[in-house]
Amino acid sequence: MAEKKIRIGLVFGGRSGEHDVSLASARSVMANLDTNKYDVVPIGITRAGTWLLGTEPARLQATNESVSQEDATTTAVTLTGDPSLRRLIPLQGSEPLQDNGALDVIFPVLHGTYGEDGTLQGLLEMANVPYVGCGVLGAALGMDKEKMKMIFKMLNLPGVDYLVYRRNEWERSPETILDAIEQRLGYPTFVKPVNLGSSVGINKAHNRVELAHAIQVAAEYDRKIIIEHGINCREIECAVLGNDEPLASVVGEIQASNEFYDYNAKYLDNKSQCIIPADIPQATAEEIRRQAVQAFLALDLSGLARVDFFLEKETGQVYINEVNTLPGFTEISMYPKLWEASGLPYAELLDRLIELALERHADRQRNRTSR
Ligand SMILES: Nc1ncnc2c1ncn2[C@@H]1O[C@H](COP(=O)(O)OP(=O)(O)O)[C@@H](O)[C@H]1O
Ligand SMILES: [Mg+2]
Repeated sequence: MAEKKIRIGLVFGGRSGEHDVSLASARSVMANLDTNKYDVVPIGITRAGTWLLGTEPARLQATNESVSQEDATTTAVTLTGDPSLRRLIPLQGSEPLQDNGALDVIFPVLHGTYGEDGTLQGLLEMANVPYVGCGVLGAALGMDKEKMKMIFKMLNLPGVDYLVYRRNEWERSPETILDAIEQRLGYPTFVKPVNLGSSVGINKAHNRVELAHAIQVAAEYDRKIIIEHGINCREIECAVLGNDEPLASVVGEIQASNEFYDYNAKYLDNKSQCIIPADIPQATAEEIRRQAVQAFLALDLSGLARVDFFLEKETGQVYINEVNTLPGFTEISMYPKLWEASGLPYAELLDRLIELALERHADRQRNRTSR
């Protein structure tokens, strides 16, 4: 008898600025999941946050704003935090869903807020469903550039110098803050919302006027703003895969099409290049791989993460920049391409991620929950 297929809830879209990026990633994941092994249940989340069962990425994209709970061909569902109901519950009508059996594993292909930041992970933990990727803490740390950098500092991983301010401090005393930044960091600086991704809300400032404007912009996106010393660098990325014994891939280089790797260079102009393997000294590549694994373990990540570095052009110094716990996942995205170059093709990478999700869940079930 054929082995029972694993039932995967593929979750994508969502209430984040990276909704469209998620749809592109989810299309590739769906196309590459082996249908002999898996039953795939697509669950598209609209921009407004409604979960629609059976809505594939292209459909969600085409009809985003107009798809609603009233749409006769999709079913709005919810997942509750009750572990005895490890299934999707329809939101309307009394008829039980034909096809809402329990899910064996959830694969969140969501980038940014409400997907990559620990919030969805919290819901999935409550529901006790195995899921691909990092847990609550790892995902939250992976989104918060300030806390992430604090941990990198504790590990003595070199990073660029930075300052962090709260929005209310900025609004109270902008001139004092501008003085402090100029004194400590000089120009150019990079100004970023602490909790965001895809370069949204990030600006490079070359003088005081640009700096004040950049902080204003970042403060629209988050209540914490990070200002970093800007360096002249190459951008090197490493893919990490595993749970307690993670492995690092070969490293790759991004050559951004703009002055820096902004949203346009990442997703729109198609002119940025991925160079795999990066043409850098072998000892530097080894050092980056070592730091990537160290960062992965220290931030309590699991499943997957892409760890991004700056390589300063003048000095050859390596600086760790950030981790991405749900990196872009199309066939041409850096994360899968780095694994492919390391000998793990896309479809096998998906198999491995699902295995890791099930392993991590099984390991957690071993924890005693009573005295
Ligand atoms: N301190 C810095 N020095 C030089 N370039 C930077 C610096 N910080 C960010 N950048 C540029 O901005 C891009 C986006 O910054 P990053 O911190 O990676 O934010 P995101 O989480 O949005 O990807 C980087 O890929 C790089 O091109
Ligand atoms: Mg980045």
